[in-house]
Amino acid sequence: MTDYVIRVVQPEEHRAAHTVFRGTLHVRPSTDGDWSEREPSYELGRTWGAFRDEEMVGSAQSWSSALVVPGGEVVPTALVSRVGVRADHTRRGVLSGLMRAQLDALTEPLATLRASEGAIYGRFGYGVASRYRQVRIRRARARFRPEVPTGRGVRLVSFDQAQELLPTIYNRLASSGRPGWVQRPAHWWAGVRLRMDSYPSPVMVAVHAGEDCDDGYAVYTVRRGDFADPDAKTVLHLADLVTLSTEGWAGLWRYLLSVDLVTEVVAGGRPMDEPLEQLFTDRRALSTERINDETWLRIVDVPAALAARRFGLLGADTEESVVLEVRDSILPENAGSYRIGAEQTERVSEPADLVLDVDALGELYLGDVTPTALAQAGRLAAPNPNALPVADRLFAVSSAPWCGTDF
Ligand SMILES: CC(C)(COP(=O)(O)OP(=O)(O)OC[C@H]1O[C@@H](n2cnc3c(N)ncnc32)[C@H](O)[C@@H]1OP(=O)(O)O)[C@@H](O)C(=O)NCCC(=O)NCCS
Repeated sequence: MTDYVIRVVQPEEHRAAHTVFRGTLHVRPSTDGDWSEREPSYELGRTWGAFRDEEMVGSAQSWSSALVVPGGEVVPTALVSRVGVRADHTRRGVLSGLMRAQLDALTEPLATLRASEGAIYGRFGYGVASRYRQVRIRRARARFRPEVPTGRGVRLVSFDQAQELLPTIYNRLASSGRPGWVQRPAHWWAGVRLRMDSYPSPVMVAVHAGEDCDDGYAVYTVRRGDFADPDAKTVLHLADLVTLSTEGWAGLWRYLLSVDLVTEVVAGGRPMDEPLEQLFTDRRALSTERINDETWLRIVDVPAALAARRFGLLGADTEESVVLEVRDSILPENAGSYRIGAEQTERVSEPADLVLDVDALGELYLGDVTPTALAQAGRLAAPNPNALPVADRLFAVSSAPWCGTDF
């Protein structure tokens, strides 16, 4: 690793970083046209490169954003992305050098990423803080129960109109979303457009009109089967569905399941507790195809992150508290004991009730998993076992964390 220099990439090197990253994912370099649209997504001073003999062989970047945490606070968060090391330089500690340099430099209390593989990021203190499910709905069996709201009306808008409309709707809702929602940087939307422009079938955008303004939307494409073949399937793929209103949610799902010639609707990346089965007279109209890790969360500044999150949201006793001892070998200033309670959180020098690594704290933070479950798997030690049910109550949340934004 001493042969490598890790440093911030200069703006004139951003394209090289992009090429290195795409190569690690087995994707061709960007064309000039594509690059001119992607260049703004390289925020100044936020890309790290690994150089060998002055040639870039690995990189990692981040975007400045913010994430909703339990209790509703929106906490500054780095969205870590475009991580890759060229195949002829892997397993020599290059990624480790990039991750450490990036973590040392981040000013946000939280960092989050999406992982290409599950075994990479735990060692750098990232834990899985939200998951999603992919569902498949057979349209012929998906009859709505009579009590499901009808929605207020859905209209299709052109993909061009959607460029302004969707960020407006999303930004209006983003700070009230469930724990895990992130602010989508302006350049994120440009990246989506570039990806969708290359789809073989048209990208459709359905918008739900709320009482006062548009309050939700769904973006989808349809992959046609041979209509003359009774066994061929025509599948509607849902890419993004965002709304916070009950009417908007039911209205958009009713719309998606009303599109003619479609045999199945496939929706990847939906919240774990989205009550889709409850919509249908036959709940087996829907099957869950897979459950995946979504938000990998790194708590960069433990005291700040604990202070921003509310505990005991489901009604823990205000007197209840536990002392957590957090271990963090990469950012040792985080290591220490913290008393956590519904009223306040503080750093203390007291014997720990529960002991865990910072990646495990990341898994607890948004409420995706309970302390008891982590203890069962040996990821959390409980010198005081009586503290486990108390910690379960303190970390409990009312809805499953979910982000819904891929980056
Ligand atoms: C994943 C990747 C960035 C790792 O880079 P790297 O420079 O080889 O990583 P390091 O040498 O710093 O590895 C650090 C540790 O992680 C382990 N590790 C690295 N990549 C791993 C993987 N894909 N699966 C399992 N373990 C992995 C190493 O074995 C090493 O373990 P050790 O500390 O016990 O020796 C690189 O393989 C790559 O670019 N892959 C393709 C693109 C990709 O998946 N990028 C990530 C996008 S989210």
